[in-house]
Amino acid sequence: MKRDFVSIFDLTKKEIYEIFTLAKELKQAQKKGIVHKMLKDKTLAMIFEKPSLRTRVTFETGMTQLGGHAINLGPNDAKIGARETVADAGQNLSRWVDLIMARVFVHKTVEDLAASATIPVINGLSDLEHPCQIMCDLFTIIEKKGTLDSAIIAYIGDGNNVCNSFIAASTLLGFKLNIATPKGYEPNQQYLTKARAAVLGDDPNKAVTHADIVYTDVWASMGQETEAKARKQVFKPFQVNRELLTSANKDYLVMHCLPAHRGEEITDEVIKDKHSIVFDQAENRLHIQKAIMVWLSKK
Ligand code: CP
Ligand code: NVA
Repeated sequence: MKRDFVSIFDLTKKEIYEIFTLAKELKQAQKKGIVHKMLKDKTLAMIFEKPSLRTRVTFETGMTQLGGHAINLGPNDAKIGARETVADAGQNLSRWVDLIMARVFVHKTVEDLAASATIPVINGLSDLEHPCQIMCDLFTIIEKKGTLDSAIIAYIGDGNNVCNSFIAASTLLGFKLNIATPKGYEPNQQYLTKARAAVLGDDPNKAVTHADIVYTDVWASMGQETEAKARKQVFKPFQVNRELLTSANKDYLVMHCLPAHRGEEITDEVIKDKHSIVFDQAENRLHIQKAIMVWLSKK
């Protein structure tokens, strides 16, 4: 049966580690110039309802390196759910291409696409989750720290899609996740209910104390632009800056899914500091998504 990657919860712990192993192999192959055309002549359709730099470029480049091809469908192209039902779009695409990646506003859109398509569907970000990002981030932490098991991760800021996927991953994998969000901006309640290794609070200092990884994301996600001004006030005490980081462990690492708003959720000084691994993290989007596409194609 075909598999989808719409949520982190679509995978088991064992499968997540299989994908990490594959990503490591693919990264090494690419660095050594070893040809790895594992998706030769396959086509990926990429649906974007929202803007993107990293997701767009890494999925398309990934397909090229794997010997396949990617078709970009921007906000004015397919207009799924408007020109035709999401299910009709899913059935059409299944007759032509081999994989679908969709970045959507409403999570149900990518779920409906997965339910109607007979080919694998990958969530490239929705209002509920950003699962490719979190797979990339965990892979990066393992590269840097050797393991996830002993790492304490602090997520500071908005309880958004990235935070929800982090909670799902900590539930499956068991790593410790300290979350600090302002009151009223907590992550998804259903995800929190399932969480077994995540602790939620509203004190960023407490969350960062003894953390190995300090992670943040924008205060207003795509689609929340009208709230951006009000959020800037609410989130001010949640900025990742030098002072906040003084209580983290000595070898702490700073992560951000990017794009970053310097001077808001993170300072320019912190993002440029030697503890920051944001661009290594961004690079790994390429390797992990290649692994996700290859892994799903074998199912
Ligand atoms: N982190 C991330 O998904 O970046 P883009 O929005 O540029 O794709
Ligand atoms: N939470 C952000 C992530 C961007 C990669 C957003 O949804 O806009």
